[in-house]
Amino acid sequence: MTNAISARTQAVLDDPVFPVVKAQVLQRTGLAYYADKDSALAERLARRLEERGVTRLSDYLTLLPAAAEFQALVNELAVGETFFFRYIEQFEALRAVAIPECLRRNRNRRTLRIWSAGCATGPEVYTLEILLKQNFGAELEGWQVTLLGTDLNRAFLDQARRASYSHWAVRGLPEDTLSAYFHHHRQSWQVRPEYREWARFEVFNLVEGRLPDPARGLAAFDIVLCRNVMIYFDEPTRARLLRGLRDTLVDGGWLVVGHAETGPEIGAVFTPVPVPGATLYRKPDPLCRAAEPPPLPPLAQPLPPPEPEPPRKRAVKPAEPVEPPPRPVPTLTDVEELAERGERGAALDACLELVEHDRFNAAAHFRLGQLEDEAGAGDPVAAFRRALYLEPDFTLADYHLALAYWRRGKLGPAQRHFRNARDGLAKHADEELVAHGRGLTVGELRGMIALWLSGDEARG
Ligand SMILES: C[S@@+](CC[C@H](N)C(=O)[O-])C[C@H]1O[C@@H](n2cnc3c(N)ncnc32)[C@H](O)[C@@H]1O
Repeated sequence: MTNAISARTQAVLDDPVFPVVKAQVLQRTGLAYYADKDSALAERLARRLEERGVTRLSDYLTLLPAAAEFQALVNELAVGETFFFRYIEQFEALRAVAIPECLRRNRNRRTLRIWSAGCATGPEVYTLEILLKQNFGAELEGWQVTLLGTDLNRAFLDQARRASYSHWAVRGLPEDTLSAYFHHHRQSWQVRPEYREWARFEVFNLVEGRLPDPARGLAAFDIVLCRNVMIYFDEPTRARLLRGLRDTLVDGGWLVVGHAETGPEIGAVFTPVPVPGATLYRKPDPLCRAAEPPPLPPLAQPLPPPEPEPPRKRAVKPAEPVEPPPRPVPTLTDVEELAERGERGAALDACLELVEHDRFNAAAHFRLGQLEDEAGAGDPVAAFRRALYLEPDFTLADYHLALAYWRRGKLGPAQRHFRNARDGLAKHADEELVAHGRGLTVGELRGMIALWLSGDEARG
């Protein structure tokens, strides 16, 4: 599949100032996603040049410092894929675990503050309002509830405020859900007014903005969702943002990130809390130290003198050593259980042991790759490649191998494996489950791959 590059896109690509503009855009937006998508970036820049009536990038560069032009360019660049109840298991985890905990903690203050950072056109925010009202309506009576959605893209936020969506944003929702929460008018679905009471929307740049920022209301959140935003950022930006998000949360507050956004950086800042079907992340609470070992005595305090050694007992004949019974080789289920409990190191060890004993188990090599990737250890690329060698149709292994290459700056192989994964899904229906995807549907995976491949097909 190839897209012809238009003459004006080609002119932007050939313009000697293109690398300068590209560097500025990547730096100000953090959208490292465009690092290997020159033709996609050039196509969007070409649209802005035409709109502003300039032909050379050097002229456009003089316009870019102005907030309005920067915003207009961002409106072209941002990837705003979103829909209602996206990753339902994460909302389920919030309903079952995080929200009840916040309600207990805040029962005296009677406030609840939730932020959707990178909310695009707003479905995530309205999904939260629906979820809260459906499940905790009575308890929240008289509470002050804040549901803030922020994004870099003003055009998305305008649509969020209108709360009116095409069928695409509500896809997959059952009829009764649609009629309960939306008015259907002509071709669009508008969220009913009773589910638009708490939601509000503001512009905020997660890369340039300061966090926390109490003056703008960006502080003291109980829950922050930042899903499918950081995948477009490079690692230093992601790490900086994670620290900023932590600082906007109250102690013990909760963070939710997208499935592809869990990595070693997040474990360094948050405590993973595995719940069935999802992992939530929690800001450590200094008041909850009961489970931690007592602190070591300060170094300045001299250690007590050693106890005098007791007189040696007469040697007795040692008992015959008893061989411990052989430990069974862990199964993939054991690995999953350890991972679900948050014992990532033990899960990784168990998975290593499993692949040593069962070297032809493609699923085990794949899981090893994922665990190594999350831990920043081992060689996940090699593990995903082994999975693919053993099972060439392993689409999810192609997808994760592509992500692993992309994170390592190997953009050519990344593209190739994104395409393999896309082609592997071609014969499957959207609602089918992806093998080894733990609930991921073909449609969701197809959507994620399409985002990675968008725009840059022409260069092969
Ligand atoms: C794929 S959407 C995710 C929407 C929603 N969180 C979800 O998971 O359905 C990514 C959003 O991040 C926003 N975004 C990208 N870079 C941003 C930045 N530097 N600051 C704020 N938002 C940004 C984009 O405008 C886009 O709306």
